[in-house]
Amino acid sequence: MTDLLLLPGDGIGPEVIAEVKKVAAKLAPDLTLAEKPFGGSSYDALGTPLSDDTLAAAKAAKAVLMGAVGGPQWASAPRDKRPEAGLLGLRAGMGVFANLRPALCFDPLADASTLKREVVQGLDIMIVRELTGGVYFGQPRFIEDLPGGGRRGVDTQVYTTAEIERVSRVAFELARGRRNKVTSCEKSNVMETGLLWREVVTDLHRRDYADVTLEHMLADNAAMQLVKAPRQFDVILTDNLFGDILSDEAAQLTGGLGLLPSAALGAPGAPGLYEPIHGSAPDIAGQGIANPLAAILSFEMALRWSLDRAATADALFAAVGRALDAGARTPDIGGRLTTIEMGAAVLAEL
Ligand code: IPM
Ligand code: MG
Repeated sequence: MTDLLLLPGDGIGPEVIAEVKKVAAKLAPDLTLAEKPFGGSSYDALGTPLSDDTLAAAKAAKAVLMGAVGGPQWASAPRDKRPEAGLLGLRAGMGVFANLRPALCFDPLADASTLKREVVQGLDIMIVRELTGGVYFGQPRFIEDLPGGGRRGVDTQVYTTAEIERVSRVAFELARGRRNKVTSCEKSNVMETGLLWREVVTDLHRRDYADVTLEHMLADNAAMQLVKAPRQFDVILTDNLFGDILSDEAAQLTGGLGLLPSAALGAPGAPGLYEPIHGSAPDIAGQGIANPLAAILSFEMALRWSLDRAATADALFAAVGRALDAGARTPDIGGRLTTIEMGAAVLAEL
């Protein structure tokens, strides 16, 4: 059985995954690794961004680590063959409904944020984004021609009680191991799904998690509070679309998009999907200057959440911290190291 399936994908994906392989070889040489095509590069080679073979291998592994997908060269591919469609298909196919996106400000990087150091220093937020429902997957969705000219585009935002409850449980459980607070974000003032979201979270909290502090916040206000006073948040629980937006905003607060990992989890025991949140970065792909830390920290999350190796994960996290303390920096965080040199700086600390 494969422990970790690697999907290097597109853009800087292969460059950063190469560094993960070196870290894995040193830290956990007994792990069984495998690799499959995915994303735009898979579309070019096989005519689909997510082949049946890759999806089957993902479901059969203990954990999946993706590099990045997408790039301008696939902008005109048919919509259902775009790299992004492959990613949505992988998330849905693996059933990974809870997306954990930490926004952590590493102290030596607090000055790299566009916000003042005193606002972001010590920031440690965990965003729990619902990942397999909502407007990303709701039916119907289409663009149609209108009889009198012009067109009409339709997307559907839809959530069931069960979908809201299972992701909320993940958020409450996580909060208990952190600062014990969940902020649930929706637009219950204008959306039916928002109203249902608030009711289901409130009800679950009363039944099973009354010991956790629960706060409800409208998603637009949450966007503002994130730049005003981000340290008020511990765990942010939100839907697929708001989570997409708020997690990009939170990531930028830390000043280190190149450092942030993510985990997508499904039912207990099912494989998790891990990915750096920085995307394929076509502007710097192939130059060997991408920051591999987000991918390395995504591997760290895989060790912790899917591979049952918390101690190894702790060691890796500490090594990354020491490398940063020692001044290791790629260009995105104000330094000159190459991807390979940054990987080596972490390896040297292990
Ligand atoms: C993300 C990305 C994806 C999303 C895209 C690439 C489909 O923005 O993981 O946040 O919208 O979920
Ligand atoms: Mg996004």
